[in-house]
Amino acid sequence: MSQQPRVVVVTGAASGIGHATAAMFVEMGETVFGLDIAPTVPDGVTYVECNVGDRGSVEAAIEVCSAGGRIDVLANVAGVVQFGRFETITEAEWDRVHAVDLKGPFLVMQAALPFIRAATGNIVNVSSVAGRVPQPYTTAYSAAKGGLTMLTRSLALELSPEGIRVNAICPGTVDTPIVAEVFEKLTDDLDTRVADRLMMMLSGTIAPAEIAAAIRYLSSQEAKFVTGAVLAVDGGMG
Ligand SMILES: NC(=O)c1ccc[n+]([C@@H]2O[C@H](COP(=O)([O-])OP(=O)(O)OC[C@H]3O[C@@H](n4cnc5c(N)ncnc54)[C@H](O)[C@@H]3O)[C@@H](O)[C@H]2O)c1
Repeated sequence: MSQQPRVVVVTGAASGIGHATAAMFVEMGETVFGLDIAPTVPDGVTYVECNVGDRGSVEAAIEVCSAGGRIDVLANVAGVVQFGRFETITEAEWDRVHAVDLKGPFLVMQAALPFIRAATGNIVNVSSVAGRVPQPYTTAYSAAKGGLTMLTRSLALELSPEGIRVNAICPGTVDTPIVAEVFEKLTDDLDTRVADRLMMMLSGTIAPAEIAAAIRYLSSQEAKFVTGAVLAVDGGMG
């Protein structure tokens, strides 16, 4: 645990990886705010209702989290998935995925930056294996996550003179509700020559807590020279 509790903001804290991350930071003794559209954040986390794709909602939420004048760690974890053939993607689905997965981190980082600057804090964005290497049947999601990966690297460069670090984690298949949603849509209709790529991983599944542990490292002082990194935690998928 740090000498003084850090102020940690975790988006998507109501489920899966974000939930595990928020719980881990509470366990470490930090002051944790969980931003989500759903209220099911872990015990010890201050829930702040927030739609990350909406600027007004994000600004109101960050105002709550930054009441003490600083944010030490921002973990952008909230996300939604898209799965299906390219020609089936509606404009509404494209917009929904980009609003949460790409515009969301943009809005949250922009609103939080003055307070991250005040703490010389750092940011960890949860991208995806799909934001690092091509994946079939996830083109809207891959485009958004690829954007998030490059947003992370570019912002890391821009903020490096100030000592503010920005890193990304690209998980493979983690055992959360999002994955169940994808597997439900894996049908015989898909071409196995490329669909099998989604299965390329060490056997077993990644636990949400294992992604949280990577966030813990990247947000720690031990990683004080790590910025612009894109850390794959994917069992070799990428
Ligand atoms: N599970 C995986 O295999 C996997 C793999 C790679 C990347 N990821 C990424 O990890 C992140 C977390 O996913 P997860 O697997 O824990 O999924 P999850 O569905 O368990 O959790 C996602 C959380 O985001 C929240 N959320 C959705 N839309 C939101 C919005 N507009 N505003 C605020 N919160 C919103 C949900 O309410 C939920 O609590 C996502 O960004 C996802 O793309 C997951």
